[in-house]
Amino acid sequence: MSKVAVVFWSGTGNTAAMASAVEAGAKDRGAEVSVFGPDEFTPDKVSEFDAIAFGCPAMGAEVLEESSYDPMFTAVEGSLSGKKIALFGSYGWGDGQWMRDRKEAFPWPGFSRVSSYGT
Ligand SMILES: Cc1cc2nc3c(=O)[nH]c(=O)nc-3n(C[C@H](O)[C@H](O)[C@H](O)COP(=O)(O)O)c2cc1C
Repeated sequence: MSKVAVVFWSGTGNTAAMASAVEAGAKDRGAEVSVFGPDEFTPDKVSEFDAIAFGCPAMGAEVLEESSYDPMFTAVEGSLSGKKIALFGSYGWGDGQWMRDRKEAFPWPGFSRVSSYGT
């Protein structure tokens, strides 16, 4: 059985709703899913999962949430090679620039499958 982590931050619930959909979809496909807030997910957890879906809305000016999610992601990104990774998150008045920037900044080489989605 595939083991999937959903790691997300949400201020007003929109990205939380997306995280619930990701969790439900992965479970429908037979995966064992664990859901984490950013303060609960650490680099030593990465090896426990086959795939990790990271969710965060656009905050600040087209950036990730800076107090907990961004530090978590910075801490774990060096441990992600070889994992299946998905990025998701909600945004408001922009046009998804924060997600395009995240895709560009992500160290994609070495990842077996990737996807990203913002709405
Ligand atoms: C402090 C703050 C900064 C935001 N910055 C952006 C932004 O740069 N671009 C954008 O499109 N939306 C921005 N938004 C809108 C949120 O991304 C949007 O409301 C999103 O749905 C929030 O997701 P959540 O419910 O998971 O917190 C911002 C919202 C807040 C509160």
